[in-house]
Amino acid sequence: MSPFLVTRTLPEDATDADLRADVLAGLTQSPKTLPPKWFYDARGSALFEQITALDEYYPTRAEREILLARADEIAAATGARTLIELGSGSSDKTRHLLDALTDLQTYVPVDVSETALRQAGHGLIAQRPALQVHALIADFTRGLALPDTPGPRLLAFLGGTIGNLVPAERAAFFSSVRSLLAPGDSLLLGTDLVKDEATLVAAYDDAAGVTAEFNKNVLSVINRELDADFDPAAFDHVAHWDREQEWIEMRLRARTAHTVKIPSLDLAVDFAAGEELRTEVSAKFREEGICAELAAVGLEPVKWWTDEAGRFALSLFRA
Ligand code: SAH
Ligand code: TRP
Repeated sequence: MSPFLVTRTLPEDATDADLRADVLAGLTQSPKTLPPKWFYDARGSALFEQITALDEYYPTRAEREILLARADEIAAATGARTLIELGSGSSDKTRHLLDALTDLQTYVPVDVSETALRQAGHGLIAQRPALQVHALIADFTRGLALPDTPGPRLLAFLGGTIGNLVPAERAAFFSSVRSLLAPGDSLLLGTDLVKDEATLVAAYDDAAGVTAEFNKNVLSVINRELDADFDPAAFDHVAHWDREQEWIEMRLRARTAHTVKIPSLDLAVDFAAGEELRTEVSAKFREEGICAELAAVGLEPVKWWTDEAGRFALSLFRA
């Protein structure tokens, strides 16, 4: 049996304290916001997996196409003996990399979703008995304490999840990533690209309503964890393309004026009819912008690949 080790750097009670602090701050400011990492409880992770199979949601298929075409090149360019993946979720697309990285000894999936990590980890060790899998339950926006594993290291951040950080968070994140890499280590980054509005909006507002359900799931998380009385049916899902910022903004719009009670925070939150709560941004990128942001932290571009249709990019940087 290959070892499957799970380390938690998020203390169980800190999760609760964090959620309370985020909800209190987010719902008492104007406009109201909620941070995206709270989408991913067990149900949220399962709904995201459903999103990745939707006709409208092209990023997963586009990124898989690039990984399949370029995995051997990535393996040759990096020679990675450790693969660290941030926001690994189901690790599904990652299998193409794991297959190609012939010198790989250790895979370190990092996610806030313990259920996603455990499911992915059990599948992986059953199929790859020689691979060491060291899963880390951690928040990648906080300082990461990575296990001591052999170099060279390849740090992968796929799925366009980088777009879920706002620019100031993104800059802090890139500089913390840089500090995790030694000379000769690499970063593999998946970024969704700027494209026509109709394609983008459809990807975040699918006809079957799965994304709407995913967006509203954050309200169910708050109900369950903080004993709030959000009625998810009292909100409409909104996906708005912000042309200036070049990001999709996910919102929940109150259908009527009403008040939500969160007794555990001693809080009553008033919503006006039509008031929108921002739940997530998903920024879209251009090659020049991404390369400039990474150059700013001292990471050099090695390769830039897109899918045939030019919708999504995978890029490789070296420390
Ligand atoms: N990489 C997968 C999943 C992308 S969904 C793919 O490409 O399909 C985003 C993933 O990041 C989810 O699994 C979510 O639980 C995780 N995540 C979101 N915010 C996080 C944070 N702050 N720290 C760690 N993981 C996070
Ligand atoms: N990383 C994904 C993205 O930005 C997450 C995501 C997909 C998402 N669909 C969503 C987040 C809907 C919130 C709502 O594409």
